Amino acid sequence: MSRIYNFSAGPAMLPEEVLMEAAAEMLDYHGSGMSVMEMSHRSKTYQQIIDEAEADLRKLIGIPDNYKVLFMQGGATLGFAMIPMNFMFNGKIDLINTGVWTKKAMKDAKLYGEVNVIASGEDNGFKKIPDVKSLKFSSDADYVYMCDNNTIYGSKFKEYPDTGDIPLVCDMSSCFLSEPIDVKKFGIIYAGAQKNVGPAGVTIFIIRNDLLEKPAPRPLPAYLDYRIAAENGSMYNTPPTYGIYICGLVFKWLLRTGGLEFRDKNNREKAAILYDYLDSSDFYRPYVDKDSRSLMNVTFRTPSDELDAEFLEGAKKYKFTNLKGHRSVGGLRASIYNAMPLDGVRALVAYMKEFEEAHK
Ligand SMILES: Cc1ncc(COP(=O)(O)O)c(C=O)c1O
Repeated sequence: MSRIYNFSAGPAMLPEEVLMEAAAEMLDYHGSGMSVMEMSHRSKTYQQIIDEAEADLRKLIGIPDNYKVLFMQGGATLGFAMIPMNFMFNGKIDLINTGVWTKKAMKDAKLYGEVNVIASGEDNGFKKIPDVKSLKFSSDADYVYMCDNNTIYGSKFKEYPDTGDIPLVCDMSSCFLSEPIDVKKFGIIYAGAQKNVGPAGVTIFIIRNDLLEKPAPRPLPAYLDYRIAAENGSMYNTPPTYGIYICGLVFKWLLRTGGLEFRDKNNREKAAILYDYLDSSDFYRPYVDKDSRSLMNVTFRTPSDELDAEFLEGAKKYKFTNLKGHRSVGGLRASIYNAMPLDGVRALVAYMKEFEEAHK
């Protein structure tokens, strides 16, 4: 077996321990004589898997009782549309634009009403996260929308806006479970699983009850109504059963390895190794301003597009993969989610030094 260091922005590395556990249980899950994949979602055994996954996630984050946890499908992208469909009651939201993901969310929200952009990083190429202290919210906004960590530019909020009584809705797809989360600051938190949590296909929503208690502002197809998902314990229809099971194993792995406090410490340590080196180098250029940097997605460039391409080619020798920047930004990107070990980051920096020496 030869596992490699996969720096993909998602789907991304999963903890090896979890993959081994899943492999061991693949053919015969706990004496059931079948794989979780083959199991009825209405069986007692599966009910236990999804219940445990939810209970472990609640414990891991400390999710208050007045929030529902939903395991859905459709990626964060379906959330871009479903959230306004379900919660744009008066037809107006405030939005902080930090790039591609909030723009997509904005486009879908505009189908249901007005989107008031209260801050944007557009003018600086999304290299800087807007200052949350100076934000002014619309008193009649249904919610304030933000994306915590922009996977593409490699930017991250260091603090959250205080929106008072207006619910704060946050796409945490690429930083969910990388650090402790104070859930009560938010009306809705959501994330696609394929970065820190599990396989693509599962999308987790944490939604405050008062939002779900208000009737939907428009007729909705059943699957697109969060209220129906919540009333049916994420099982109005067949949920992504195997994906939820893997997420459950990841939650258990996080719980037994020090929880989100440890992840925060470990992720800071990993990111510091990379950023310290980038800051000390005259060769590489980090993309994002220092005060806005992501701990999950580290974006940088060499002095030219040709050298970026050569860097990627040379990385193959060390079995590093997926270091190419997103097509809309170019350059290079190392995604170092929870499952990327410190050694992977150290090995990458050793290669970066070697490449710099050879080309400066
Ligand atoms: C921050 C963020 N939001 C939303 C998405 C879209 O997620 P999905 O492809 O699961 O719909 C992504 C995908 O990478 C992302 O990084």
